[in-house]
Amino acid sequence: MSKPRKILVTSALPYANGPIHLGHMLEAIQTDSWVRFQRMRGHQCQYVCAEDAHGTPIMLNAKKQGITPQQLIDRVRAEHTRDFEGFNISFDHYSSTHTDTNRALSRQIYSSLKDGGYVDVRSIEQFYDPKENMFLPDRFIKGECPKCGTADQYGDSCESCGSTYSPNDLKNPKSAVSGETPEKRPSDHHFVQLAKFEPMLKDWVHSGRLQDEVANKLNEWFEGGLQDWDISRDEPYFGFQIPGTEDKYFYVWVDAPIGYMAASKELFDKTGQAFDAYWRADDETELYHFIGKDIIYFHCLFWPAMLTGGGFRKPTAVFAHGFLTVNGTKMSKSRGTFISAETWLEHLPADPLRYYICAKLSDGLADIDLNLEDFVARVNSDLVGKVVNIASRCAGFVKRFFDSTLATELPDPALYQRFLHESENIAADFENRRYSAAIRRIMTLADQANKYIDDNKPWVAIKDESRRDEVHAVCTQGINLFRVLSTWLKPVIPATIEKAELFLNDGQLQWSSIDKPLLDHQIATFVPLMTRVDDKIVDKVVEASKQSLQPSAPVAAVEQTPTIDINQFMAVDLRVARVIEASHVEGADKLLRLKLDVGELGQRQVFAGIKAAYDADALVNQHVVLVANLAPRKMRFGVSEGMVLAAGPGGKDIHVISPGDGAKAGMRVK
Ligand code: 2FM
Ligand code: ZN
Repeated sequence: MSKPRKILVTSALPYANGPIHLGHMLEAIQTDSWVRFQRMRGHQCQYVCAEDAHGTPIMLNAKKQGITPQQLIDRVRAEHTRDFEGFNISFDHYSSTHTDTNRALSRQIYSSLKDGGYVDVRSIEQFYDPKENMFLPDRFIKGECPKCGTADQYGDSCESCGSTYSPNDLKNPKSAVSGETPEKRPSDHHFVQLAKFEPMLKDWVHSGRLQDEVANKLNEWFEGGLQDWDISRDEPYFGFQIPGTEDKYFYVWVDAPIGYMAASKELFDKTGQAFDAYWRADDETELYHFIGKDIIYFHCLFWPAMLTGGGFRKPTAVFAHGFLTVNGTKMSKSRGTFISAETWLEHLPADPLRYYICAKLSDGLADIDLNLEDFVARVNSDLVGKVVNIASRCAGFVKRFFDSTLATELPDPALYQRFLHESENIAADFENRRYSAAIRRIMTLADQANKYIDDNKPWVAIKDESRRDEVHAVCTQGINLFRVLSTWLKPVIPATIEKAELFLNDGQLQWSSIDKPLLDHQIATFVPLMTRVDDKIVDKVVEASKQSLQPSAPVAAVEQTPTIDINQFMAVDLRVARVIEASHVEGADKLLRLKLDVGELGQRQVFAGIKAAYDADALVNQHVVLVANLAPRKMRFGVSEGMVLAAGPGGKDIHVISPGDGAKAGMRVK
């Protein structure tokens, strides 16, 4: 065999500011399957990632939650690692950009850029929020679109007409943090002069290593002229201070990709490998970044410039992919298609999604659609109906009639060879990230394996004592074909194939394991490797996504929680009410019917979703807080005339708000 390759792989660092959703998982699945494939080929392939922990949104989000940025990023990190583990993403190391290793490397690269004469410091004017005492990133300024006049648009682009502009052009700008009118203030900023790297970047882009669509995009940027890149941000900022300054921080996009280096350094320090072999020299090692198509600019212009300025090697290639859509459109919270990894795993295993994504992925930038109906049909038909079925059709006979032992030779070695002939084609497809092509080849052969069993009908032959050897041979052939398919599918559905490995009882499958068939070998008892995906469960995922993402939606940026003004607040009539009666509602699992005394407002009937948390009788004579001027709502069980205030995530964990001692029915609460 040729020398094992030394490969370092990354996927983009998720912001430590919200849940991992299926969009993130698309990339993690793409990367992980590739990494697992390389490892099965006998290469040393190491996969690192980290939390992208810095920046204004994280700082403001922590503030909003009344915690420190450190507390926020620690909490989110625990959630992210749980979700990645749930999807069997096989990182060798998972770090954070907020580490000493990353701080040191960021400073080092900055100093080299500065010493190399690539950094220019000059004063620029930017919007400043005088109430919050902070400069405002473009995304935190809102106003009317200068082109079409639509209100409430971000400082960099209009969602209504699609035009992009500078926040200076926005009409009637307001700070999205405080609502104040921002003012212009000058401040010194540090710029990397990207144009100085242009010849190097052009060479790199034209080296043939980037996808054509990516190279074309970069050419457009070259034609437009490379602008200086502002790498500094003013205090307050959650990030690394720029050496030699009092109040300047590295922009998050400086230390984020350096986080790839830092994460690998931590890994190499642990395992005793040479950092420089991967990051200084590029003759013996390969470096790949998997990214989404929205961050090409950062990875294909800024990042190679930073690396070159710092005296490091450039990536061997950057692999960009498209976005995930669900049922043909952008993931949507209200439609329940903004699905978090956590919600998915609460209802379904990881492998069906891993399979479906890979069955659709190619080497280009096209978006991948997760069509939920097609997902159920495809997984059930391909994995359960074709692949797992081969083993389950043969295993029982081998166990019952042949002491769980495979025959000593294959009855159709030519068929086995035809399978093996595809092995290098499938490997080439995986290597070049044509996952869907690989899966097509695998499934075509799965059809042939099933046809072989259908043609030979072991369930008929077994009835005839004189044909026992034939059954043994056919099942041995079937199980060996299953073993070949399992080997090829192992990078994609690792948890399922782990069970197949236990059944085959021959250790871990490597790409070359199938060169020889498994003969005269004792197999283990077959346990179902995967069950059918029930479309009702998929409906539940959508339902749960509608619910879970409404109250605690991605904590991304402050402006995501719309505020109400004091007049709107005052318009809510909150009253103390006494529970006169509480009773169960026929046909409703969650509701209690409450009859309330609201003093001067008379009596009200309200349906409250608190049955799991409260015993009806215990509520009688308790005081509650009622939204008394909510429009009456006709429900299946009657009219609900208001809403009782409660807090908590739901189910058993919900607490009706008590107005406290001295409360009297009808009293106003504010
Ligand atoms: O776009 C994002 O989600 C960024 N957090 C990706 C960073 S990738 C890298 F460069 F660190
Ligand atoms: Zn507009």
